[in-house]
Amino acid sequence: MTAQIIDGKAFAASVREKVAAHVARLKDESGITPGLAVVLVGEDPASQVYVRSKGKQTVEVGMNSYEHKLEANTPEADLLALIDKLNNDPAVHGILVQLPLPDHMREDLVINSIDPAKDVDGFHISNVGLLGTGQKSMVPCTPLGCLMMLREQLGSLSGLDAVVIGRSNIVGKPMAQLLLGDSCTVTIAHSRTKDLPGVVGRADIVVAAVGRAEMVPGDWIKPGATVIDVGINRIDAPEKGEGKTRLVGDVHFESAAKVAGAITPVPGGVGPMTIACLLANTLTACCRANELTEPDGLTA
Ligand code: GUN
Repeated sequence: MTAQIIDGKAFAASVREKVAAHVARLKDESGITPGLAVVLVGEDPASQVYVRSKGKQTVEVGMNSYEHKLEANTPEADLLALIDKLNNDPAVHGILVQLPLPDHMREDLVINSIDPAKDVDGFHISNVGLLGTGQKSMVPCTPLGCLMMLREQLGSLSGLDAVVIGRSNIVGKPMAQLLLGDSCTVTIAHSRTKDLPGVVGRADIVVAAVGRAEMVPGDWIKPGATVIDVGINRIDAPEKGEGKTRLVGDVHFESAAKVAGAITPVPGGVGPMTIACLLANTLTACCRANELTEPDGLTA
């Protein structure tokens, strides 16, 4: 069998188109423009790239983008004061504080100071609780993107065996909750799982989110399974020349693609979906804040 390659880049473009169309209608009908505020503390190069990309795509779908850049040594109280201001700004419907934060800041305190209704990352403890109890919440962007791709690929997920490899708060745990919400039988596997090949081998859906390069080989995967690879790992690529590197996922793509029914590549799979879902969440937050109809197919 040769797996179908799930084109995350194209799917993310279609999500952005849907968002843009709904934003245009919103502006026409109610005069409201959704706004996303992104806060970056310090100069982490990877974070700067993400934030630039978020700002660009926010504007491209017709929303307002507000960027706040703070020095790495900014006191925590100043960041909390900025968040308070954004919480009370009616033009701001979504707030994202880029992680990681500098060591002197308490990440949990900062995240939990964001108004849950504007928490487009879905990291606030209230949103975590709402998701865990099956109530309407803001859903973390990467798992939401994975869920959208799975629904698109498989239709109903009801009754399917799903394994999520990785138990992070940002991906693994919310992913498991979303799959449970769609009536999958869910296993969360992690570094202490006894028989990982056996657990993976029973799954119709494999979501790999451990951050270990190519740790899932094709021969663990059940023939025909759908494989979603969240990992983005940079490894040496001497075949490309001295000192060169390349990106790989948590799944060994070449061997897995011979067994799986469908698989996301790295890069070009889950990655592009994350920012697309951030835009979708900002639109959703704006609609909820103004008691307007939410877009179809862009929420859990
Ligand atoms: N840093 C890396 N990924 C993310 C993300 O999804 N949200 C936030 N806030 N920070 C990040």
